[in-house]
Amino acid sequence: MDRPFVLSFAVHGKDFIDAGRASTEIKSVLTDLGLDPAIIRRVAIASYEAEMNVVMYANEATLTLELTPKNIIIVVDDQGPGIPNIELAMQEGFSTATPEMREMGFGAGMGLPNIKRNADDFAIQSTVGKGTTVTIQISIN
Ligand SMILES: Nc1ncnc2c1ncn2[C@@H]1O[C@H](COP(=O)(O)OP(=O)(O)OP(=O)(O)O)[C@@H](O)[C@H]1O
Ligand SMILES: [Mg+2]
Repeated sequence: MDRPFVLSFAVHGKDFIDAGRASTEIKSVLTDLGLDPAIIRRVAIASYEAEMNVVMYANEATLTLELTPKNIIIVVDDQGPGIPNIELAMQEGFSTATPEMREMGFGAGMGLPNIKRNADDFAIQSTVGKGTTVTIQISIN
């Protein structure tokens, strides 16, 4: 069994300049590896939405890409305010984005539902006052 390929990125809250960098790099790594473009697209959407949620709502996070022969797993583990009601946060259209964020085109309340839709397996765990961990798994075959 081959050892999994792992890449980690730091994601910083409020850093709208660098926002999306980790997802862009993941996309280029998977493209270089020759993965199916349809799968790369799903990974890119899911990782971008999770990364942007850190930029908008959290303080710091580590975004980790793990690649095994069968799966792509992305874990975004943040330190931040946490999510008090995950069921509500998962609903399409629910958003606590500020007017400034909405002006930048965010805040449709579609990020988390989109992550779930693009993932084969999705988990979100959150502790108020501590942070949130989003785990996204997409099968390669
Ligand atoms: N990492 C996080 N930490 C704290 N709260 C979060 C985090 N991710 C999401 N949330 C909360 O869940 C809500 C819904 O997130 P979701 O990504 O679905 O929508 P959005 O970010 O508000 O808008 P969009 O993603 O469409 O730009 C957010 O408005 C925010 O209140
Ligand atoms: Mg979002």
